[in-house]
Amino acid sequence: MRILETENYEEMSVLAARIIGAQVLLKPDCILGLATGSSPIGAYQELVRNYQKGLLDFSGVRTVNLDEYCGLAPENPNSYRHFMDENLFDKINIKKVNTFLPDGMAQNPEQESARYEALVTSLGGADLQLLGIGRNGHIGFNEPCDHFPKDTHPVALTQSTIEANSRLFERKEDVPSKAITMGVGTIMKADKILLIAGKEKKEIIEEALFGKVTPQVPASVLQLHKDVTVIICKS
Ligand code: F6R
Repeated sequence: MRILETENYEEMSVLAARIIGAQVLLKPDCILGLATGSSPIGAYQELVRNYQKGLLDFSGVRTVNLDEYCGLAPENPNSYRHFMDENLFDKINIKKVNTFLPDGMAQNPEQESARYEALVTSLGGADLQLLGIGRNGHIGFNEPCDHFPKDTHPVALTQSTIEANSRLFERKEDVPSKAITMGVGTIMKADKILLIAGKEKKEIIEEALFGKVTPQVPASVLQLHKDVTVIICKS
């Protein structure tokens, strides 16, 4: 595991974008595993800048996102599909048909989870999976529990995650209570993992990377992965 510390969010974003960009340069038809949330926004902006400078070509890249809320249509500004389109996909030359997220509007979330898991498997898993981390140690929407969920599955979000995510919604009542997320096993299938975390995640990062491997801290499973890079910012 490599742990890199940067002075601030901007440096973290530039470094993360360099690592993702390097993956695209090395393997132009790579599978990128992507995340939403506050942590990756700066990295996506930097990837867009590098694309605009002609340094990166996304035309052969396919992407799989970690998760999606249940009940939010792609047009809903709070859906993760909308987030990805707005922050990245609409600003680079990726083919939209090559960008995948679970379908939050699926009638049957169990079936949709199985379909998404099969899709990720058929792509051979991500070459590089980008992750953020929740204050409770969640990765994707794998919340603390008594086992590591293996495959993509529907989840009930914990109160702490609903609270944390409500900052992006007009009203707390609008935060969906369910989501579909890649399982811990799906995430661990990635060849390489890049975890980025702001300074407010320092404590949970320490617990996850240096504490006991336990499903009570889902990110602790990353200690068992062969190729993890963590970027934390100091301020
Ligand atoms: C996002 C995701 C979540 C976030 C985590 C951190 O797709 O799966 O696990 O990465 O909640 O969110 P931020 O970056 O907003 O602190």
